[in-house]
Amino acid sequence: MPLICSQLSVFYGRRKALSDFELSMRRGEIRALIGPNGSGKSTALQALAGLLKPAQGQVTIEGVAVASMSRRAIARKLAFLPQQPSAPDEMTIAQLVRQGRFPHVGLFRTYDRKDEEAIEWALDCTGLTSLADRTLQELSGGERQRAWISAALAQEAGILLLDEPTSFLDIGYQVEVLDLVHRLSRERGVTVIMAIHDINQAIAVSDRISLLEKGELRFDGEPRALAESGLIEKTFRVKGRFVQVSPDNPPHFDVELTRLRQPEA
Ligand SMILES: Nc1ncnc2c1ncn2[C@@H]1O[C@H](COP(=O)(O)OP(=O)(O)OP(=O)(O)O)[C@@H](O)[C@H]1O
Ligand SMILES: [Mg+2]
Repeated sequence: MPLICSQLSVFYGRRKALSDFELSMRRGEIRALIGPNGSGKSTALQALAGLLKPAQGQVTIEGVAVASMSRRAIARKLAFLPQQPSAPDEMTIAQLVRQGRFPHVGLFRTYDRKDEEAIEWALDCTGLTSLADRTLQELSGGERQRAWISAALAQEAGILLLDEPTSFLDIGYQVEVLDLVHRLSRERGVTVIMAIHDINQAIAVSDRISLLEKGELRFDGEPRALAESGLIEKTFRVKGRFVQVSPDNPPHFDVELTRLRQPEA
């Protein structure tokens, strides 16, 4: 198994942000991590990436404890795109994406053909080839997000952890990024865990879904079982229903917004 964790608990000071979290990823599996704001999605991803030390439990990559691995060793296996990554404004997209290769380049920082090809491929995948020489401060929010996705892709790790990778993207690029994730999983066997707010996108793209609420794992299973569980309405405190447009399509959550359109009393 590429990535496993069990009984993972994380504290910030004395406050518990994640409680007994567990998951087990097969090679090439796509998992969406959903849950309300503050439910622990980013905390879970950071713990899986070895950036937050759990108070309890452990994470293993291909059977090796993340806690025992160097940053570089982790980065060869796992690429992590944080929710709010930061880099100097004057850095160009090309430089940012080059940095994604750091776990592969040798001691003397020489980039070989394979590195250059990975960089070109990562830029192309996110539609940034023509913008490669622009600095980060010269980009729109969505272009910047694509630059970060590109840097994570250039790392060519077998495990991708993405924290809300589509939050700033227009609907066209949202679909493109989800499609890219799907292709990486199916064609290259990349294992993906992705925090995402759009329930329907989560259901459409994932093999399995983990639902967090207040740091606790409320659901771990297939999208259709989540749709049947009634947990979306309960956890997010909304009214709505799952509709099945056709047998070939995944169920679609239709959130009720009619209250917003009622005239004032
Ligand atoms: N660095 C931190 N120090 C202290 N508390 C934190 C820190 N980061 C997050 N928290 C708290 O931990 C809990 C989980 O936060 P986390 O960022 O994991 O939520 P999330 O599910 O990713 O939310 P969002 O959907 O808003 O991104 C929240 O109550 C949050 O306030
Ligand atoms: Mg978050």
